[in-house]
Amino acid sequence: MQRLAKRWQRQGARVGFVPTMGSLHAGHLTLVKRARRLAGRQGKVVVSVFVNPTQFGPKEDFLRYPRDLARDARLCRAEKVDVLFTPSDREMYPERFSTFVAEENLARGMEGAARPAHFRGVTTVVAKLFNLVRPEFAVFGAKDFQQAAVVRRMARDLNFPLRIVVALTLREPDGLAMSSRNQYLTGGLRTQARVLWRSLQRARAIVRKSSRAVPARRLKRELKEFIEQEPAARLDYVEFFDPKTLAPASKVNRGARMAVAVFIGRTRLIDNGAL
Ligand code: PAJ
Repeated sequence: MQRLAKRWQRQGARVGFVPTMGSLHAGHLTLVKRARRLAGRQGKVVVSVFVNPTQFGPKEDFLRYPRDLARDARLCRAEKVDVLFTPSDREMYPERFSTFVAEENLARGMEGAARPAHFRGVTTVVAKLFNLVRPEFAVFGAKDFQQAAVVRRMARDLNFPLRIVVALTLREPDGLAMSSRNQYLTGGLRTQARVLWRSLQRARAIVRKSSRAVPARRLKRELKEFIEQEPAARLDYVEFFDPKTLAPASKVNRGARMAVAVFIGRTRLIDNGAL
């Protein structure tokens, strides 16, 4: 991959990169289309599929994470992706691997608090992938809003010569954000999963109709009660924050952003949006 990337660089080709963990869905494909648009017909688009073990906690779903490389390859071919990069665990983490990359500010709250080693795994693997693919830009989804902010900060702090582009969250018709983990939602769980999107809408309505800032504590209490009316739903966290700094807001205004993590049965889903 690195040899090919260097050759492209010598040829002056514009290279765009979309890192994923596979089980591609239409949300991933909007990132691929964005990369193609930005790279141009002459440019190169690389998609990686790597289920990165270092970003999963010991009790999380690394082993059962959905994998379907044949289908991913078909979808990438249809999008005219130039290279589908699928390194093995051993290639990415050879014996005696001992160097990690950690962003220590934006990565602390929300997903970082709920999943302790998660972002260290993400920044480590993304730094490695950037060094392998050497893209001019990389496309991430707003679905993982904090991840995009952490990666952008990492790229800036470590002088990666690339631009981070963030694409909007693609949703199912009923509002559920597309996710590879939606495959876990069998039976009645799928309808209950709508509660993430509905809680965002509800927060938005409350904030917009209020003439002054709404205390975050009150909103959190109301949303927890609302979410947990679904029998299989358990709130992990809901947070309101400044979209630039990710600093938590104690009073919530329009312009704040909300992020929510909810267990629907055993499946942990996240979503976020502007209020
Ligand atoms: P994965 O969950 O496969 O997501 C890959 C990219 O697709 C991320 O940038 C994510 O934000 C984006 N994405 C997922 N669902 C989306 C949706 N509904 N709409 C728009 N974009 C969406 O995120 C990861 O993998 C990993 O952490 C990775 C960055 C690859 C590092 O291992």
